[in-house]
Amino acid sequence: MLDTIEQYLKEIKSLSIQNHEELEKYRIEWLSKKGKLSVLFDAFKETEPGLRKEIGKNLNILKKEAEANFQNLKEIFDNKPKAENSKSLDLTLPGDMQKLGSRHPISILRKEVIDIFSRIGFVVAQGPEIEDDWHNFTALNFPPEHPARDMQDTFFIEKTDSAEGQNIALRTHTSSVQIRYMESRTPPFRAIMPGRVYRNEAISSRSNCFFHQIEGLYVDKNVSFADLKQTLFYFVQELFGNQTEIRFRPSYFPFTEPSAEMDITCQNCGGKGCSICKHSGWVEILGCGMIDPQVLLNCHIDPEIYSGFAFGLGIDRMALNRFKVSDIRTFFENDIRFLSQFSSLLV
Ligand code: DAH
Repeated sequence: MLDTIEQYLKEIKSLSIQNHEELEKYRIEWLSKKGKLSVLFDAFKETEPGLRKEIGKNLNILKKEAEANFQNLKEIFDNKPKAENSKSLDLTLPGDMQKLGSRHPISILRKEVIDIFSRIGFVVAQGPEIEDDWHNFTALNFPPEHPARDMQDTFFIEKTDSAEGQNIALRTHTSSVQIRYMESRTPPFRAIMPGRVYRNEAISSRSNCFFHQIEGLYVDKNVSFADLKQTLFYFVQELFGNQTEIRFRPSYFPFTEPSAEMDITCQNCGGKGCSICKHSGWVEILGCGMIDPQVLLNCHIDPEIYSGFAFGLGIDRMALNRFKVSDIRTFFENDIRFLSQFSSLLV
């Protein structure tokens, strides 16, 4: 048995193993359950007790040698592919292209509207989304308990019952920014105020609990309803094209007098009538009016000297028609497959 061990040792040392496959064969031949070493260990159990010490020692040397041989070669072969890879790295290949992001459809539309109004001298202003009762309601002529407050379902952040305390809410419209703008300036001025607004409304394919508005404001001496009409007519023709017509319907908002809602020719059917315009040929796009004198007074502007107009439009529904999208919620699901479709519209 000692001879066999010596011969195996020589054999292992003289082996020339070149790759993983050969190493696996080696493992099976020598180290597996039925391999040569196991056979030797089985035979060892049968040897005479007097010889066991000597044989056992040599058998362990053989085992260690066989296992070390296997581990060394395995490490070499495992590392080999990496080394080969680094050799084959071709530095002259063109790099990976960086994917270009795309603008959000609502941002595309907002930018278009801002561009159109800035061409006729409107500046952009912004205000907070968390608003107090004064700016969102009271200064806009919605006194406490006024039924018009129910026109907009409000998300309150802090609600107080005391007479002095103010409710704090997520703004329900960008008209609150009008008040902030007028409070801190003296006319003349014209500004548009884009922003996100919130209402506690049932969510559906046509309405969401938050959406985007753009508010417009122009205050100067002798501003008239004719100025309002012409400004909005210019805006509509720029955004939707020269063939688009407008019409005004009398309406009610607490902060404007007179108030109106403005419709444009349905972009889907060109005014012929379809399901989108409920077969009227018209689609409502904004509310507007002459700023109520009391609202000017609330902002320390003398209504005897100045007058002004205001308007507010929602851009989410406009974006539905513009980009032929059927569900408003898809704008805010952050699905990259949907959003990346607008990359060609990058402006
Ligand atoms: N704030 C109104 C709303 O959210 C929209 C609006 C109507 C704004 C008339 C105006 C306006 O500035 O004059 O429903």
